[in-house]
Amino acid sequence: MNLQNQTAIVSGGLGDIGRAIARELHSHGASVAIGDIHPACDAKSLLDELGSRARYDRVDVTDAEAVFDWIRTVESSLGLPTLVIPNAAIVTLSTLRELTPAQWKKELSVNLDGAFYLALEAAHLLTSRSMPGRIVFIGSWAGSVPHAHIPAYCVSKAALRMLMKQLALEYAAADILVNEVAPGYVDAGLSGRVFEKDASSREKARKEVPIGRLIDPAEVAVQVAHLCDPRNRHMTGSVLLMEGGLSLCKN
Ligand SMILES: NC(=O)c1ccc[n+]([C@@H]2O[C@H](COP(=O)([O-])OP(=O)(O)OC[C@H]3O[C@@H](n4cnc5c(N)ncnc54)[C@H](O)[C@@H]3O)[C@@H](O)[C@H]2O)c1
Repeated sequence: MNLQNQTAIVSGGLGDIGRAIARELHSHGASVAIGDIHPACDAKSLLDELGSRARYDRVDVTDAEAVFDWIRTVESSLGLPTLVIPNAAIVTLSTLRELTPAQWKKELSVNLDGAFYLALEAAHLLTSRSMPGRIVFIGSWAGSVPHAHIPAYCVSKAALRMLMKQLALEYAAADILVNEVAPGYVDAGLSGRVFEKDASSREKARKEVPIGRLIDPAEVAVQVAHLCDPRNRHMTGSVLLMEGGLSLCKN
């Protein structure tokens, strides 16, 4: 795969899956812009590892103007992002009846609004320059299967899926292909932290998965790169489901 002369932009890029995506796209030759809410010192080891063709910006995706500024800063340093990866997300562990309005608003704001600001502005700039591009949303199998303990997360990922399809339709003629990678249980990041608090929950999750394995972040990154591959010219509006068969049992 050759992603040389392409610039990737990854929100939530200091998270476990975000780091793996940055590494994978960089390894295929792309320049990589990473954004997250953490201070710049937290990005040092990743930037040292990637070497040239990488930068970090502190950006909160719930702030539309900050996201727009981020894209323009990246354009002036690495080039206009042609590979756009809205990846930042949070999860609130709560039943629906205990969820507060503030928790609901925050979760939708990061997981949905933040992805909207990044994807739409990048697509707008690409079309204004007549440049093709790829947008890969990091969704979840939870976008199609309700989970009682993470209701706002499930709603946000379901809405993200429709946003992905709307964007795919809107920008198809501009050769901006828009897709979603939907992982199941990843043994890192949001679910990894839950597993760390309670080791038995990791084993319980693993046993739920028909193939009997949890996902490594690098496996998610490989699928993101696949959807960014210029040779992949026809997939748009698709969900690349990678959950080891979970949805076969729970739907
Ligand atoms: N871990 C899993 O099991 C799993 C499964 C399916 C999908 N996903 C998805 O993968 C993506 C990455 O999640 P992860 O598991 O690596 O979690 P993670 O917590 O390691 O990474 C998420 C990153 O988003 C950042 N972030 C949070 N709020 C932000 C904001 N307002 N602005 C900018 N950045 C912000 C966090 O600081 C963090 O670095 C998410 O979209 C998540 O929904 C994860």
